[in-house]
Amino acid sequence: MTGIFGTGALLQTDINLILQIVMFLIIVIGLVYKSKRKFKRHGELMGIAVILHVLSFLLVMGPSLYENYDFFTTATSNVGVQTTWIHAIPGAIAMILGIVLVGAWALRPSNIAACRRRKRLMDITVLFWFISLIFGIATYIVFYV
Ligand code: HEM
Repeated sequence: MTGIFGTGALLQTDINLILQIVMFLIIVIGLVYKSKRKFKRHGELMGIAVILHVLSFLLVMGPSLYENYDFFTTATSNVGVQTTWIHAIPGAIAMILGIVLVGAWALRPSNIAACRRRKRLMDITVLFWFISLIFGIATYIVFYV
Protein backbone atom coordinates (compact mmCIF):
# COMPACT_ATOMS: atom_id res chain seq x y z
CA MET A 1 0.00 0.00 0.00
CA THR A 2 1.41 3.44 -0.91
CA GLY A 3 2.22 5.92 1.81
CA ILE A 4 0.91 9.28 3.01
CA PHE A 5 3.60 11.65 1.74
CA GLY A 6 3.66 10.52 -1.91
CA THR A 7 7.34 9.60 -1.73
CA GLY A 8 6.85 5.99 -2.85
CA ALA A 9 7.45 4.68 0.67
CA LEU A 10 5.07 2.05 2.05
CA LEU A 11 2.19 3.15 4.30
CA GLN A 12 3.81 1.54 7.35
CA THR A 13 7.08 3.35 6.58
CA ASP A 14 5.32 6.73 6.51
CA ILE A 15 3.41 5.92 9.71
CA ASN A 16 6.72 4.93 11.27
CA LEU A 17 8.27 8.27 10.26
CA ILE A 18 5.36 10.11 11.88
CA LEU A 19 5.83 7.97 15.02
CA GLN A 20 9.54 8.88 15.14
CA ILE A 21 8.71 12.60 15.00
CA VAL A 22 5.95 12.21 17.63
CA MET A 23 8.41 10.35 19.92
CA PHE A 24 10.95 13.13 19.45
CA LEU A 25 8.36 15.74 20.49
CA ILE A 26 7.18 13.65 23.49
CA ILE A 27 10.79 13.28 24.72
CA VAL A 28 11.40 17.04 24.37
CA ILE A 29 8.17 17.80 26.29
CA GLY A 30 9.20 15.16 28.88
CA LEU A 31 12.50 16.99 29.35
CA VAL A 32 10.64 20.30 29.79
CA TYR A 33 8.60 18.72 32.63
CA LYS A 34 11.85 17.44 34.14
CA SER A 35 13.18 21.03 34.12
CA LYS A 36 9.99 22.17 35.87
CA ARG A 37 10.63 19.40 38.45
CA LYS A 38 7.33 17.69 37.54
CA PHE A 39 9.00 14.27 37.65
CA LYS A 40 5.86 12.13 37.64
CA ARG A 41 4.65 13.74 34.41
CA HIS A 42 8.24 13.46 33.05
CA GLY A 43 8.28 9.71 33.78
CA GLU A 44 4.80 9.22 32.28
CA LEU A 45 5.75 10.97 29.04
CA MET A 46 8.97 8.95 28.76
CA GLY A 47 6.88 5.82 29.37
CA ILE A 48 4.56 6.73 26.46
CA ALA A 49 7.61 7.35 24.22
CA VAL A 50 9.11 3.97 25.23
CA ILE A 51 5.81 2.17 24.43
CA LEU A 52 5.66 3.88 21.00
CA HIS A 53 9.30 2.95 20.41
CA VAL A 54 8.67 -0.72 21.23
CA LEU A 55 5.53 -0.76 19.01
CA SER A 56 7.35 0.82 16.05
CA PHE A 57 10.18 -1.70 16.50
CA LEU A 58 7.88 -4.74 16.75
CA LEU A 59 5.46 -3.72 13.98
CA VAL A 60 7.66 -1.94 11.41
CA MET A 61 11.41 -1.64 12.02
CA GLY A 62 12.13 -5.15 13.31
CA PRO A 63 10.23 -6.93 10.48
CA SER A 64 11.88 -4.63 7.89
CA LEU A 65 15.36 -5.39 9.25
CA TYR A 66 14.57 -9.11 9.29
CA GLU A 67 13.18 -9.16 5.72
CA ASN A 68 16.01 -7.06 4.26
CA TYR A 69 18.81 -8.44 6.44
CA ASP A 70 20.90 -9.59 3.44
CA PHE A 71 20.74 -6.13 1.86
CA PHE A 72 21.62 -4.34 5.12
CA THR A 73 24.61 -6.60 5.78
CA THR A 74 26.04 -6.67 2.22
CA ALA A 75 25.30 -3.24 0.65
CA THR A 76 27.38 -1.48 3.31
CA SER A 77 28.68 1.19 0.90
CA ASN A 78 25.09 2.39 0.38
CA VAL A 79 24.52 5.64 2.33
CA GLY A 80 20.99 4.56 3.29
CA VAL A 81 22.34 1.34 4.76
CA GLN A 82 24.94 3.29 6.73
CA THR A 83 22.36 5.72 8.13
CA THR A 84 20.10 2.73 8.91
CA TRP A 85 22.78 1.16 11.13
CA ILE A 86 23.58 4.49 12.84
CA HIS A 87 19.84 4.70 13.49
CA ALA A 88 19.27 1.07 14.50
CA ILE A 89 22.15 0.39 16.92
CA PRO A 90 21.73 3.46 19.18
CA GLY A 91 17.94 2.96 18.81
CA ALA A 92 18.15 -0.59 20.14
CA ILE A 93 20.33 0.55 23.07
CA ALA A 94 17.93 3.44 23.86
CA MET A 95 14.94 1.09 23.68
CA ILE A 96 16.48 -1.38 26.14
CA LEU A 97 17.60 1.40 28.53
CA GLY A 98 14.16 3.05 28.26
CA ILE A 99 12.42 -0.23 29.15
CA VAL A 100 14.76 -0.62 32.15
CA LEU A 101 14.19 2.98 33.39
CA VAL A 102 10.41 2.97 32.98
CA GLY A 103 10.11 -0.67 34.09
CA ALA A 104 12.04 0.01 37.32
CA TRP A 105 9.73 2.96 38.06
CA ALA A 106 6.60 0.91 37.23
CA LEU A 107 7.64 -1.65 39.86
CA ARG A 108 7.84 1.07 42.54
CA PRO A 109 5.83 4.07 41.25
CA SER A 110 5.94 6.06 44.51
CA ASN A 111 9.75 5.97 44.63
CA ILE A 112 10.80 8.96 42.52
CA ALA A 113 14.01 9.23 44.57
CA ALA A 114 15.11 5.88 43.09
CA CYS A 115 14.51 7.32 39.60
CA ARG A 116 16.65 10.33 40.47
CA ARG A 117 19.61 8.03 41.18
CA ARG A 118 19.34 6.77 37.61
CA LYS A 119 19.72 10.21 36.05
CA ARG A 120 23.10 9.42 34.42
CA LEU A 121 21.47 6.44 32.72
CA MET A 122 18.72 8.81 31.57
CA ASP A 123 21.33 11.16 30.05
CA ILE A 124 22.83 8.24 28.09
CA THR A 125 19.38 7.02 27.02
CA VAL A 126 18.34 10.42 25.70
CA LEU A 127 21.66 10.84 23.86
CA PHE A 128 21.34 7.47 22.07
CA TRP A 129 17.66 8.12 21.41
CA PHE A 130 18.26 11.50 19.77
CA ILE A 131 21.08 10.07 17.60
CA SER A 132 18.72 7.26 16.57
CA LEU A 133 15.79 9.58 15.80
CA ILE A 134 17.90 12.00 13.74
CA PHE A 135 19.41 9.14 11.70
CA GLY A 136 15.98 7.47 11.37
CA ILE A 137 14.68 10.62 9.70
CA ALA A 138 17.91 10.85 7.63
CA THR A 139 17.39 7.23 6.48
CA TYR A 140 13.88 8.06 5.26
CA ILE A 141 15.23 11.09 3.36
CA VAL A 142 18.08 9.08 1.76
CA PHE A 143 15.82 6.20 0.63
CA TYR A 144 12.66 8.06 -0.36
CA VAL A 145 13.06 11.83 -0.89
C1 HEM B 1 13.19 6.59 28.69
C2 HEM B 1 13.11 7.00 29.92
C3 HEM B 1 13.70 8.28 30.45
C4 HEM B 1 14.55 9.18 29.87
C5 HEM B 1 15.12 9.14 28.47
C6 HEM B 1 14.81 10.22 30.84
C7 HEM B 1 15.60 11.33 30.64
C8 HEM B 1 16.04 12.18 31.63
C9 HEM B 1 17.10 13.15 31.52
C10 HEM B 1 17.92 13.39 30.26
C11 HEM B 1 17.24 13.75 32.71
C12 HEM B 1 18.27 14.83 33.09
C13 HEM B 1 19.37 14.15 33.91
C14 HEM B 1 20.40 15.12 34.43
O1 HEM B 1 20.02 16.07 35.12
O2 HEM B 1 21.59 14.92 34.12
C15 HEM B 1 16.25 13.20 33.61
C16 HEM B 1 16.06 13.57 34.94
C17 HEM B 1 15.17 12.98 35.82
N1 HEM B 1 14.30 11.96 35.54
FE1 HEM B 1 14.18 10.97 33.77
N2 HEM B 1 14.10 9.94 31.98
C18 HEM B 1 13.43 8.77 31.79
C19 HEM B 1 12.59 8.12 32.68
C20 HEM B 1 12.32 8.56 33.96
C21 HEM B 1 11.43 7.89 34.87
C22 HEM B 1 10.65 6.61 34.57
C23 HEM B 1 11.43 8.61 36.01
C24 HEM B 1 10.61 8.30 37.27
C25 HEM B 1 9.68 9.12 37.65
C26 HEM B 1 12.33 9.72 35.86
C27 HEM B 1 12.64 10.68 36.80
C28 HEM B 1 13.62 11.64 36.68
C29 HEM B 1 14.05 12.51 37.76
C30 HEM B 1 13.54 12.51 39.20
C31 HEM B 1 15.03 13.36 37.21
C32 HEM B 1 15.79 14.50 37.92
C33 HEM B 1 17.12 14.04 38.40
C34 HEM B 1 17.81 15.18 39.14
O3 HEM B 1 17.89 16.27 38.57
O4 HEM B 1 18.22 14.95 40.28
N3 HEM B 1 12.84 9.66 34.59
N4 HEM B 1 15.54 12.24 32.92
